[in-house]
Amino acid sequence: MNILGVDIGGSGIKGAVVNTVTGELLQERFRLDTPIPATPQAVASTVKQLVQHFEWKGKIGVGFPAVIRKGIAKTAANVDASWVNIDVDKLISETTSCETNVINDADAAGIAEMKFGIGKNKKGVVLMITVGTGIGSALFYDGKLIPNTEYGHLFYKGEVAEKFCSDSARKKIDLKWDEWAKRFNLFLKHLERTISPDLIIIGGGVAKKQEKYFHLLSLDTEIKIATLENNAGIVGAAMNMV
Ligand code: BGC
Repeated sequence: MNILGVDIGGSGIKGAVVNTVTGELLQERFRLDTPIPATPQAVASTVKQLVQHFEWKGKIGVGFPAVIRKGIAKTAANVDASWVNIDVDKLISETTSCETNVINDADAAGIAEMKFGIGKNKKGVVLMITVGTGIGSALFYDGKLIPNTEYGHLFYKGEVAEKFCSDSARKKIDLKWDEWAKRFNLFLKHLERTISPDLIIIGGGVAKKQEKYFHLLSLDTEIKIATLENNAGIVGAAMNMV
């Protein structure tokens, strides 16, 4: 089935029509900047521009950076605070006139990685961590998603972990890669100690910069870099709509 997958992020809103059986994008993906402030109306209008770009009239699967319960955003860490309790499915389907289904963005990326990427056929406990503007997580047991985990929001030294070791934190305080890797490794160690995963997959923006830090990570758990890169969120959001 072909579905328009949309990945709403802290800095960009990306989309492409996806063949959900093969995981392939049917055309080149299209990206627009996330509006500032990223209010519900402004973001919904940007998604409408994506829909118009693809002249799309079918279903839309959306990945959104918040806890999502029954289509409703329950948190708003890297988007405008006014998103809390907004019915994202309803807002986007009314704005675009396309049937919409929303899922947490990291859960979407994890679904795609487990089906078509580095997590394919992996059994046991698999934890995907996406590192970009925020830190997202997706937890799987025998390939089945346990939705809405928010490991990027674990407290560390009085602040949430994503403020300590997201990619935007690295840029904001101008951390050298080895300093960032030390912080990120501490975060992963904590997850290893508390969840005992069989595999940790690292995705999001830092996935394509692995030569800067991967050799500096040291865990007992197997760690792998996601292979679908930036497209995972789009593909997984589309798959979740089927
Ligand atoms: C949000 C998560 C999201 C992650 C990555 C965090 O700030 O709380 O829901 O998955 O950022 O975008």
